[in-house]
Amino acid sequence: MEQSGPEEFEVAIGSAISAPEAFGASFDEAPAADALELGEGLEGDPAIAFRRTLGMFATGVTIITTRTAEQVHGMTANAFMSVSLRPPLVLVSVDRRARMSNLLHEGVRFGVNVLEAGQASLSDHFAGRAVESAEEPRFELVHSTPLVEGALAHLVARVVRSYWGGDHSLFLGQVEFARYGEGEPLLFHGGRYERLVRDPRVFSVLPQELLEPILALGVERSYEDGDEIMRRGDPGHELLLVVEGEVQVERPGRSVTLGAGELIGEIEVLDPVGARIADIHAVGPVRCVAVTREALIAALEADPRAAVGLIEVLAARFRETA
Ligand SMILES: Cc1cc2nc3c(=O)[nH]c(=O)nc-3n(C[C@H](O)[C@H](O)[C@H](O)COP(=O)(O)O)c2cc1C
Repeated sequence: MEQSGPEEFEVAIGSAISAPEAFGASFDEAPAADALELGEGLEGDPAIAFRRTLGMFATGVTIITTRTAEQVHGMTANAFMSVSLRPPLVLVSVDRRARMSNLLHEGVRFGVNVLEAGQASLSDHFAGRAVESAEEPRFELVHSTPLVEGALAHLVARVVRSYWGGDHSLFLGQVEFARYGEGEPLLFHGGRYERLVRDPRVFSVLPQELLEPILALGVERSYEDGDEIMRRGDPGHELLLVVEGEVQVERPGRSVTLGAGELIGEIEVLDPVGARIADIHAVGPVRCVAVTREALIAALEADPRAAVGLIEVLAARFRETA
């Protein structure tokens, strides 16, 4: 990306943003509050259904920070977006009832702190939720703006314009400072914190020569189109290799089709009390090889190299989520 000096950004901002009067029209054209139609199967309070629908859009989590003469104030926000590279602009949407909404206005600087996977309690803290851990957030000042220590990325922006956004206000900020470190982000999806899991596979990443003796202990099983292969909540005491055909894997909010050569149920089989995490159905005729937990353990005992291989895979997975 080409670099440009601050002067260039200033000129660009001056010419790119229209005068406030230009936004009068869009205020008048705001849709009526009762215009929301719910899709089939969605019942009850439209506001809740709307919120849940929006919750399907996975985001990171930020803490928006600012400083007044007397205090540092932080607010958890996931309604943050990048807007422009040249000039560098970002936008945050703040509830008009939030204290932050009264603190931000043109010329005021705010920090955007992109939280790291282990900072869910900080998110709760700045969302005004009760948090058990007594750890106090620590700040450093950059461009006179408080930034949360340990965050994955930091931005300092100055409000250049604010907009009407219904019960929220939208603050457009010109970015003056940016940096990021290494790590995994905290995610927010379906009203819950989530983490990135790069690779949910365990057995399938074992080298072929270690996997084959395990699968050789399995028994063959056939399914017809639409047959249930696994049901969410059932005990997960075996893993299956799809040998022929396709299967449909349904998890809340996620659906994937897997074909020949794929393993299913490979995580639950390691956990003696773990239940199935997905519903799986046959798509057309399917042939599988099923390996029970007992057979699996016998195979691992027979070849400790497979057991060590498995421990290495699990250690890598743990490192990703720890
Ligand atoms: C994950 C998460 C994301 C949130 N995102 C926003 C947001 O984008 N905008 C907003 O106004 N409030 C958001 N909130 C709610 C505010 O953090 C909360 O209302 C906070 O108490 C407002 O703080 P204040 O009134 O002290 O400024 C979010 C809360 C959580 C837990």
